[in-house]
Amino acid sequence: MENRRPLIAGNWKMFKTCPEAVETAMQLAQLVNINTVDVMIAPQFTALVPVSDVIKESCVSLGAQNLFWESEGAYTGEISPAMLVSAGCGYVIIGHSERRQYFGENDDSVNKKIKAAIRNNLIPILCVGESEKNRESKETFNVLDRQITKGLEGFSSTALDTLVIAYEPVWAIGTGKTATKEQAQEVHRFLRSMVEKIFGNILAKSIRILYGGSVKPDNIKELMEMPDVDGALVGGASLDAKTFSEIINF
Ligand code: PGA
Repeated sequence: MENRRPLIAGNWKMFKTCPEAVETAMQLAQLVNINTVDVMIAPQFTALVPVSDVIKESCVSLGAQNLFWESEGAYTGEISPAMLVSAGCGYVIIGHSERRQYFGENDDSVNKKIKAAIRNNLIPILCVGESEKNRESKETFNVLDRQITKGLEGFSSTALDTLVIAYEPVWAIGTGKTATKEQAQEVHRFLRSMVEKIFGNILAKSIRILYGGSVKPDNIKELMEMPDVDGALVGGASLDAKTFSEIINF
């Protein structure tokens, strides 16, 4: 893992009302006291401000699950980067496969969202990953190549120095099927080599690449032993504070 600081991020998706989110965040803030790993939770939008309040003295940071790239305007239902910052967010998840699948996001919108995040000093977590069909037809690396090349088009390497990439094979999300540690390592190595090819060695060495897809307390350790796995993006298992804290304390 060289000198990269691990990041364990929880994606709460469309779960938890405000009181439920605050309760879980409070429990987590009490359970987790670690300075060797970065920790982030991404609750739904309406819970950002109250959750921000209860974690501000803890080592847990706040993230959002999405943003819109314009700074303001007549865009009913959208949320701007500055709004997220003012709600206490330091991170934003971009291009999650569920957004690509159900809400029409594509490499072009992902690219604009990453630009908007960086302009506003939010740390973007760019999600990439192949479907089961892609994997079966041996298209995994083509798909990832396209998602990275197009998603990161037009950036300089210095602009991307905070970027985090999350490799989330779609067939492993919420299914209980995890990529084996060897499968994860193979793809993470490929992604790092792509970053090296496009942006050079310095960014390739420093960029954090997370694994996501059915990460649990009993598989985090072996995943984290892989040299190119720098953390995890956790869905289902991040909803319970105790379970998530076990993953964080791997
Ligand atoms: P999961 O979700 O851990 O429930 O598989 C991961 C994700 O979608 O980020």
